[in-house]
Amino acid sequence: MTHSTSLPVVVITGASAGIGAAAARRFARGGYRVALAARRRERLEALAAELHNLGAEALVLPTDVSDPAQVARLADAVLQTWGYVDVLINNAGLGRFARLEALDPVDDIQRQIQVNLTGAIWVTRAFLPAMRARKRGVIINVSSVAGWVGLPLYTVYSATKFGLRGFTEALRREVARDGIRVVGLYPGPVTTEFGQQAFKDPADRPRAASWPGVALRAEDVADALWDLAHHPRRGVVQPWWMAPLVWLNAHLNRLGDWILSRTMLRSS
Ligand SMILES: NC(=O)c1ccc[n+]([C@@H]2O[C@H](COP(=O)([O-])OP(=O)(O)OC[C@H]3O[C@@H](n4cnc5c(N)ncnc54)[C@H](OP(=O)(O)O)[C@@H]3O)[C@@H](O)[C@H]2O)c1
Repeated sequence: MTHSTSLPVVVITGASAGIGAAAARRFARGGYRVALAARRRERLEALAAELHNLGAEALVLPTDVSDPAQVARLADAVLQTWGYVDVLINNAGLGRFARLEALDPVDDIQRQIQVNLTGAIWVTRAFLPAMRARKRGVIINVSSVAGWVGLPLYTVYSATKFGLRGFTEALRREVARDGIRVVGLYPGPVTTEFGQQAFKDPADRPRAASWPGVALRAEDVADALWDLAHHPRRGVVQPWWMAPLVWLNAHLNRLGDWILSRTMLRSS
């Protein structure tokens, strides 16, 4: 296949499912070359075939973001193939929700930190020199409303998403004068496979997450990613009506403690 030189390039981690796959479709439809990174090769290949049918170029790059050697290979493959990157979406992530003492130290605690936080940091570090050389680029980190509001049962997940928010803010200031924009996206509940696996005890799943109008679709989040890539700003809470709840939690913290400690836990 002959490659034209001017098409923009997006790298998406966690592209094999949910928000990442929806973002891949959104950017492919918008004329981007799409680098697809996640662990499950077959899923990435099926998605790449779909994107090719839309007329887009797609690269399948099986990658575990918690392995620094695989992250380095991901960046080498994208830069050797296309030479540059315009948008990086750090989206790979998982949740393991239970009382802290019920979380496995390695499979639940360490893995969430290594994928959601360390993985995003490593992937960013791997692509940053190429963005700096061109003096342009947008990095979007998919955090969560749980990156603003600490929720019972979400302790480690919240720690990773608060951490990702801190990383986003600090890096934004570090690279602001290099033409690189660093953005946070903070979605509320989204209907993907994520929620099916996140609660170690499915009975702990909060009822509010399935109320009509509360959960977003992956396509809604993909639209927000598209918008942020083209109109970068510090961060966006999605849906919009959760932003006042984030504000209330920060300013009326005791009220937040009272409400969330009563509504998020089953009495046992
Ligand atoms: N769903 C929600 O309610 C919600 C709300 C707020 C924020 N988020 C955040 O949105 C992001 C995407 O979530 P989603 O809802 O789309 O979940 P999902 O459908 O479960 O997809 C998660 C993606 O992450 C990838 N992934 C997991 N571990 C990985 C690893 N070690 N290396 C590379 N990729 C890995 C998975 O691919 P493989 O298994 O193939 O590796 C998959 O493509 C996550 O960061 C999540 O925290 C989700």
